[in-house]
Amino acid sequence: VARTPLIAGNWKMNFDHLQAIAFVQKLAWSLKDAQHNYADVEVAVFPPFTDLRSVQTLLAADKLPVALGAQDVSPEAAGAFTGDVSAAMLGKLDVRYVLVGHSERRAGHNESDDTVGLKARAAVAGGMVPVICVGETAEDLETHGAAAIPVAQLTAALAHLPADAEIVVAYEPVWAIGSGEPATPEQAEEVGKALREVLRTERGDAIADATRVLYGGSVASQNVASYLKQPNLDGALVGGASLKVDEFSRIVQFK
Ligand code: G3H
Repeated sequence: VARTPLIAGNWKMNFDHLQAIAFVQKLAWSLKDAQHNYADVEVAVFPPFTDLRSVQTLLAADKLPVALGAQDVSPEAAGAFTGDVSAAMLGKLDVRYVLVGHSERRAGHNESDDTVGLKARAAVAGGMVPVICVGETAEDLETHGAAAIPVAQLTAALAHLPADAEIVVAYEPVWAIGSGEPATPEQAEEVGKALREVLRTERGDAIADATRVLYGGSVASQNVASYLKQPNLDGALVGGASLKVDEFSRIVQFK
């Protein structure tokens, strides 16, 4: 089954809105010089909330086919939730993807599987595609092996979603994030395959075959192609390396 690869840059808490504009402009020039075909490899950036409006305006003005993602969303629709941002607000900014369940939010903000599922549901209800992040810690890996925790996290999130919801799954072993020690392509493929099996059991063949499973964790231009060669991996969620224009451009052009 042909799935369009997705290269997603998660900027985390980096770049103010002026830096964001400069970055996206340079990225677009670099990909234009390289005659990048966005239909072959989809590109998405996930700026902080404060940058979204500026990036949206630039993408629209220059007609750039880069997709916009948000790093989080409230599970609530509106109301007295100080500091939170709703799916409806993100939708108005042409946001297409929303990260949910990133390990930095699960660990740093005590987000449970239920919260992650409710956030994914809010994104879907708002017309967006949740990028559901799953992954095991080093301790989990030692105790349970690689796949058990990601499989449980994905299963829990799916329980909150309508049967036909479009999603993206991102497998990010916590020990590989920002460590410079990525999972081997074989390790990542093993978990990617297990996650696709969850989709097959819970959602059937059509959705399992159409859904993109990304790998994330110390992805760089030197290793990205080795993940994309795996039958069950369809892209990358890139952190640190997505902050350097030339490096991110090379990652996008992994073929
Ligand atoms: O969301 C991205 C991941 O946390 C990966 O980060 O590429 O810096 O390891 P990293």
